[in-house]
Formats: sequence, C-alpha cells, structure tokens
Amino acid sequence: DGLNISIPVYFHIVLPDASAVTNSQVQSQMNVINSDFTSPNTNQLPSGATDFINDATNTEITFTLAGTFRHDDATSSWGTNDAVKQAYPPITPETHLNVWVCNIGGGILGYAQFPGGNSDTDGVVLLYSSLPGGSAAPYNEGRTLTHEIGHYLNLRHIWGDGRCRQDDFVEDTPASDGPNYGCPSYPTVNCKSADMTMNYMDYTDDACMYMFTDGQRNRMRAIFQPGGARASMLN
Ligand code: ARG
Ligand code: ZN
Ligand code: CA
Repeated sequence: DGLNISIPVYFHIVLPDASAVTNSQVQSQMNVINSDFTSPNTNQLPSGATDFINDATNTEITFTLAGTFRHDDATSSWGTNDAVKQAYPPITPETHLNVWVCNIGGGILGYAQFPGGNSDTDGVVLLYSSLPGGSAAPYNEGRTLTHEIGHYLNLRHIWGDGRCRQDDFVEDTPASDGPNYGCPSYPTVNCKSADMTMNYMDYTDDACMYMFTDGQRNRMRAIFQPGGARASMLN
C-alpha cells in the first residue's frame, strides 16, 4: 500500500503518585509494542500450526514516544466511562495516539476507542500495573497495550464477540465462540478448527500471545488510506 505508518504516542500517567510508573517502564512498553507489531514470535508457534505460521505478519506499523505527562491525582479508580480523559484531555489526537495509564478498577486491564469516534475521547486507557514489570501478572509484559492498540486500529476480538458464526471481519483468523484464557495448548478447538489463541486479540496470558495475521494487518492499514478514519495521522 506504500504507506509509511509511524505513530507518535503521548503517555498520561494519572496516579496518586505518578512517579510510580517510571520512564524506563514507559520505554519498555514502547519496545514491546514496536516488537509486537513488527516481529511475530513464529518460533513459539507449534510446528503443526503451519497455517498460523504462514498468517503471522509484520504489520509495518511502528510507534515513537512523543512525550510523557505525569499527574498526581488521588482518584482511586477511574472506571471505563472516559472520566480520566475528561480530567486530562488528549493532546492532538488527530495525529497522536494518547495513552492514559491509571487505575481503572473492576479488574479491567484496558479499553480503547475504535476509529471514527469522538476525538475528545480518542485513545487507549491502560491499567498502570499492566506495563512491563508491573504487578498484574500474568498480564504484566506490556501486551495489554498491544491488544488495545489493535482495537484503536479497528480490530475486533478474535472471536468476533459472538458465537462461532460471528465474524471479526478478518478472513484469516479462524472462528471461535469466546475468549481463551491462560496459556492454552494447541490445538484448542471450539468451532471445528483450532482457535488462534496466540493472537494478540484473544484474552490469553501476555506470555502466550504473539501474533497478528496478514488479514489483521490489512484491516489496520486500511484506515490510514486516503479517506480512512485515521488517515489524518500520516503527514
Ligand atoms: N480485557 C481487555 C480488553 O478486552 C484486555 C485484554 C488484554 N490481554 C492481555 N493478555 N494483556 O480490552
Ligand atoms: Zn479487547
Ligand atoms: Ca475471522
């Protein structure tokens, strides 16, 4: 498609003591998303999963750290109603991915806004302890942000949020009927074929997810085409 997609990222750390999330953790988080979007760990795939090995892809979408802003705020949990975004508005969301790092509460690891929504609430909210080195094991290797950026770039959950016939609008991700958790063995079959439990858009442990597919790559990159919902991010 000829597009050079490099997304600048702003981090807003909003915690009672915002220094608790260090610059080195933010840098590690940046390293994880850059690695996940460009180098699928196909060597971790079972050798029998030849389809999955062929589908695993480099999305050629990369990220740069544009700034980190810290706000000491005594709010103990922010929920999922965008309150943290209203308190600390996104900065130039037309051109930058904004990530709010806070305590969401309710056991929620993160949530994201799909493309095409209100720019005042555009971006990703992330549980502070899901960053690399955080305390949210087994979700503390930085892959919650990988998953949430998938949503931000138009990906649905791998099971389409429905039963076997509910599509995720990606042709090379096999049907499934719900999320997988933990670190499933291969093959895990729910809808007549092996689930792609190692896809970033499932709910498995951070250590056990390691690929996007060609179809997901195409779906993400399509929104950057002229007229697409995130075309304004490229200049
Ligand atoms: N449950 C969250 C969501 O649906 C994120 C799941 C992230 N999974 C992980 N292994 N970090 O957006
Ligand atoms: Zn999700
Ligand atoms: Ca599919």
